[in-house]
Amino acid sequence: MAKKLSRDEKYALYEASVQNPKSDIGFINREYKKLFGKLPLVLREDFCGTGAMACAWVAQSPKHKAHGIDLDMEPISYGVENHLFKLKDEQQKRMEYILGNVMADYDFKADVVVAFNFSYFLFKERAMLVKYFSKVRKHLKKDGAFFIDLFGGTQARQLLEESAKHKDHTYYWDCDFYNPLTSDVLYHIHFKTHKDGVKHEKVFTYDWRMWDARELQDVLKDAGFRETTIYWEGEDKEGSGNGVFKRAKNVENCESWVTYISALP
Ligand SMILES: C[S@@+](CC[C@H](N)C(=O)[O-])C[C@H]1O[C@@H](n2cnc3c(N)ncnc32)[C@H](O)[C@@H]1O
Repeated sequence: MAKKLSRDEKYALYEASVQNPKSDIGFINREYKKLFGKLPLVLREDFCGTGAMACAWVAQSPKHKAHGIDLDMEPISYGVENHLFKLKDEQQKRMEYILGNVMADYDFKADVVVAFNFSYFLFKERAMLVKYFSKVRKHLKKDGAFFIDLFGGTQARQLLEESAKHKDHTYYWDCDFYNPLTSDVLYHIHFKTHKDGVKHEKVFTYDWRMWDARELQDVLKDAGFRETTIYWEGEDKEGSGNGVFKRAKNVENCESWVTYISALP
C-alpha cells in the first residue's frame, strides 16, 4: 500500500496547486488603492489554513500587520514552521495566527478581510452566510474592504474530475456530487506524485453549497455592506485567463472561471 502523504507533503502540494498569495495581494493592493488612495496595512485572513497569504502580507513593509484565523491546528502548524519561521524576527512580530472561529468576536479591526479559496461555501444556509458576512463587516475599519473569491462556469456543477499537471505532481479537482435542488456539492482534491506515480485520493474534501455571484451580492447587502463589485479576468491571445481582473457587470460564461468580489462596509 502507498505511504500516506505527510503533513508537510500535503500542504506543500496544496499550496503549489491552488494558492498564489503574491497575485492575490497585488490585486487587493491595486483595488484598495483605487478606492481609498492608500495601501491597506492590516489584513485579516479568514479560513487562513497555513496562513501563506498573511505571512506574505507582513513581508510587504514594516507597517503591515496580519491576523490569520483557522479552526485547525494542522495547517497552522505547517504555516508556522514553513512560512512564519522563514520571515525575519521583526516581521514575525507583525503576524498573528489565531486558532479560532471566523464567527467569533475579535478585539481588532482590519483594513482588509479575505475569505479565499471559496472557504465560505461551507455555510450552506443563507442566514449563516449573512451572519458570517455581518461579523466580517463589524471587524472592518471605516476605510475597509472585504474580498472573497468564487468559481463557476459551465463545468462547475458537473460530476467531473479536472486535472492540472505541475512539475512534480498532478492536481485533481473532483466534483463527486451535485444536487441541483439545493446546490449542495462535494469536492475532493487528489494529488499524483510523479516520483512514485502514486495517486493520493481525497487528500482534501469539501462539503459545500455552490453560491453564485448574484446571490452573494444580495447576501452581502443583507449583511450591511453598502457596495459590492464583481471582477472578471481578461484573456490572453490563446483565450486563457491572463491574471488581470477588472470590474465587470456583463460577461460571457466559459467552462471554468474563478473571480473576486469586493464589498465595502
Ligand atoms: C479551503 S481551506 C482554505 C485555506 C486557505 N485560506 C486557502 O486560500 O487555500 C478552508 C480552511 O477553513 C478552516 N475552517 C473551516 N471552518 C472554519 C471556521 N468556522 N473558522 C475558522 N476556520 C475554519 C479549515 O480548517 C480549513 O483550513
